[in-house]
Amino acid sequence: MALLGLDLDRSPVRREDTPPTSSATSPPETAGDIVKPTAIGNDSRQETVWKGADRGKTTVPRVGEKRTKSYGDYYKGNALQQLLNATEYFVGGVGDRRQRRKLEKRESLEEIAPRKRKQTIKSETSAEKISDKKSTERRKQIKEHSEPKPHNESEQEQSGEQNGCTPWFLSHEMSKNVKITWSFFDPEADNKPKELELTSAYTLVNDRLDRYVMKNPQITPREVYLLYPLFDYQEKYLLAECKLNAWFNPIADIARVMELTATVYMPEKARKKVIDFDNPSNCLIKRWDDAVNRHDGDQLVQLIEEYNSLVAKLRKNGQMIQHIRQRKTFPQLLVHEIMNQCYLRGVLPDYRKLRSYKAFSNYVYGELMPSFLSRAFNQCNLSHTKVFIDLGSGVGNCTIQAALEYGCESYGVEIMDHASRLCRLQTEEFEKRCAIWGVRHGAMKFFLGESFVDNAPVQEVIDRSDVILVNNYLFDSELSKKVVDLFSNLKTGTQIISLKPIVPPGYTISWGHPESILSRMKCTRYTYGENDVSWTSKGGFYYITEVLPHINEEYLRALPARSQRTRGKELVLNAFTNNV
Ligand SMILES: C[S@@+](CC[C@H](N)C(=O)[O-])C[C@H]1O[C@@H](n2cnc3c(N)ncnc32)[C@H](O)[C@@H]1O
Repeated sequence: MALLGLDLDRSPVRREDTPPTSSATSPPETAGDIVKPTAIGNDSRQETVWKGADRGKTTVPRVGEKRTKSYGDYYKGNALQQLLNATEYFVGGVGDRRQRRKLEKRESLEEIAPRKRKQTIKSETSAEKISDKKSTERRKQIKEHSEPKPHNESEQEQSGEQNGCTPWFLSHEMSKNVKITWSFFDPEADNKPKELELTSAYTLVNDRLDRYVMKNPQITPREVYLLYPLFDYQEKYLLAECKLNAWFNPIADIARVMELTATVYMPEKARKKVIDFDNPSNCLIKRWDDAVNRHDGDQLVQLIEEYNSLVAKLRKNGQMIQHIRQRKTFPQLLVHEIMNQCYLRGVLPDYRKLRSYKAFSNYVYGELMPSFLSRAFNQCNLSHTKVFIDLGSGVGNCTIQAALEYGCESYGVEIMDHASRLCRLQTEEFEKRCAIWGVRHGAMKFFLGESFVDNAPVQEVIDRSDVILVNNYLFDSELSKKVVDLFSNLKTGTQIISLKPIVPPGYTISWGHPESILSRMKCTRYTYGENDVSWTSKGGFYYITEVLPHINEEYLRALPARSQRTRGKELVLNAFTNNV
């Protein structure tokens, strides 16, 4: 999904980066050592009284002899000379007090050099060892995911699952299977009415033809149709190679649909025709990959026909519907791919306007990615019996994913008009895509064009929610305070996922307000990884805050009483102490 938002990684210029200025006119930070120069500048031919490195000794350097500068030498001369001296001092002089003390302790510079080198080599070796270990682990991981895993046919028949990850178009998340605890697959999916108007992939390419390469005569834009597994629906595509700036790639999109259909909906024998881990060289996806690399458009069209006839046959004899009725799990990737399809078709064509917010305001737009959400929802034990709400739901991604992946009752509230409009489009597309993939979702409701503040129906949902999401990364302090007020009546056990802590760091219970909901919250910090959020490719922190049945004793810690402060002990407040 696209990066929407500001570059939030900008940070103010660090103080250490500021070069020394005419502060050079003030002495470096070594005031304890008094130097009484008798000579101006560095003229070693003149007699100099040294203190510092050779504290207490009086040395007269010989003519031409090189000597280590004392700090006193650095603030001699006029302003310009002192500035130059200061530069030298900070860049490589003896200014570092600790360093200088070390120098004083050691007998000679020659002795230091080998020791330092030894130290550096030691630390380099350990760093190498770590990075070596990391890269070995990484190689192992990649190998595990990309190498076809041996199949135990009988086990597979029993569970009706595929374990492996495909080496081609689907990502590694393929290995994560979610246990089906509610009717995720619609057992009657093949008996649904046939008329559905979906946003087709054809429109996405046709509307932005300038983003597609037509130079290669082998790949001319061609209309093709792709069959879906259960519903009698075929999506129209315009097959074309895309330029770098094209956000929709029809060739990859088709491959993902074929691969997902085979992995989730086809019985073993048919699946192997599309993806075969044991003998990949001849399966359809491998031939597709090769044809893409050869820019062989005719072959791509032929492969789509081959795939369509396989799907038509399996659909006709009811093998695919039977297969999903037996499934006990579904791959998380199916959820992520349906989300991806809806986002590409419903949101992306018009996403630019989402950027039209006031910088650093509460309305800055940014998104949490499906894999991150799956992890966070899992940590909160979201399930089909629970209630979820996203406060500031944007185009509805999080609400939709919670309803689809966990089958829970799912709500979203969004104030901005454009995000609300895209949310409507995306939800419509989502309903239809669920039908063609034969999956169901929990009840969903959005409060669009409305604020979550002072909103009675929203407050009613918040009060009975089990999991609340608030992407408060850029909420200002006023809105953050209002958000906390919304949580006053949360039930015990409710969990809040947020990007900034709900309980302020260093919070202690004020005995004037022990009844504040914050006193009953436990806020835990977690780390998200690269590409988990849309506003940065780097990792960061997120928080899960749980409402406890009792006061969180951690917040009872306060400043120790004056009598105890000297003892250096921390005082734990309790009902018998009154010193806050
Ligand atoms: C950073 S986006 C989060 C979108 C989505 N929840 C996600 O994490 O992918 C925050 C959203 O909160 C919305 N928002 C800010 N203040 C709001 C309010 N008082 N009521 C409802 N929505 C609000 C903004 O318009 C924006 O769309």
